[in-house]
Amino acid sequence: MTAMTEAVIDLAAIAHNARVLAATAGPAGMMAVVKANGFGHGAPQIARTALDHGATWLGVASVAEALALRAQGLTAPTLCWLYSPAETFDEVLQADIDVSAGSVTALEALAAAAERTGLVANVHLKLDTGMSRGGAPVEEWSELFTWARKLSDAGLLHIRGLWSHLANAEDRSDPGLHTQLREFDLGREAAAVAGLDPPILHLANSAAALHLPPARHDLMRAGIALYGIEPVPGQTFGLRPAMTVRAQILLTKRVPAGTGVSYGPDFYTDRETTLALVPLGFADGVPRVAAGQAALSVGGVRCPIAGRVSMDQIVLDVGDLPVRAGDWAVMFGPGDQGEPTAGEWAGWAGTNPHEILTGIGARVPRRYLS
Ligand SMILES: Cc1ncc(COP(=O)(O)O)c(C=O)c1O
Repeated sequence: MTAMTEAVIDLAAIAHNARVLAATAGPAGMMAVVKANGFGHGAPQIARTALDHGATWLGVASVAEALALRAQGLTAPTLCWLYSPAETFDEVLQADIDVSAGSVTALEALAAAAERTGLVANVHLKLDTGMSRGGAPVEEWSELFTWARKLSDAGLLHIRGLWSHLANAEDRSDPGLHTQLREFDLGREAAAVAGLDPPILHLANSAAALHLPPARHDLMRAGIALYGIEPVPGQTFGLRPAMTVRAQILLTKRVPAGTGVSYGPDFYTDRETTLALVPLGFADGVPRVAAGQAALSVGGVRCPIAGRVSMDQIVLDVGDLPVRAGDWAVMFGPGDQGEPTAGEWAGWAGTNPHEILTGIGARVPRRYLS
């Protein structure tokens, strides 16, 4: 079988980005955030590369993602932070996976798993410092710490980390960001009052790791910067985008002015032109909403999408370019050959680059450059 689409993942770029993060945010350690299949790049491949170039931890959202890393032979310290209220954690403890806990209920479930398995649960207490998403709200910190201390004294839990997440680390002028930094410090003091001294404090995502030293603490959790997207608007840290998505043109046709293209149609050619069929659609991660603005690059020339994005295909208006079946159309890449970047797609689709990267569908084969 010959693939007609591919996402080429440049592991040298991942290695470079990991080194930039480690050099900038050190001596803080680095957790490589490889949830959502490594932001679409392939979790085990990204994890191995990041660990070889400065990462010391792996971070994922779900228990299933953490167990998959273990099954793939990754033994580095790993934290997961989302699980069902019915999760029993036995398998998690047996796989030596650290778990985030932001409630007494979660601590009790972890302690019960520790009793059943005869293992100690490694726990990172999650504080809500102002994002109002995960983590214990401030009113519950005292109870959370009291129970954490009790279950830790009983030998069931090891309170290994204290952590939180920032809502807007990109903008150092945001007062909410500074409130979160202060709240985290207060949380750490309250934990100490309860007799807890978690050895690993972590708060920073990519943006904070790169430009907000007070947020670095012991460990940063690096996601988007690891994949090469600059996280701080107006500032560059020399990161290199790692993913290029491209597809072969399947056929071309010369059409007269006034030709309707794709569903509807709500697009008509404005002149005689060549149309090129590309086998990427919204099931592959081409956002439907981007049609009308988005372009792919063919031989370094940007060619707009003509008409609506279908599930599996798009049509490019390539004008008079001498394009032939078998030529490659680049959806996005690092941008150094004139192709669009994931950031530009995010602008066209009214979203962030994270959604563009993670949206690249499973049927687009990943090919790794090492
Ligand atoms: C809890 C947590 N920490 C860290 C990250 C990484 O954030 P970023 O991609 O901004 O580096 C994420 C990603 O969304 C996250 O959910």
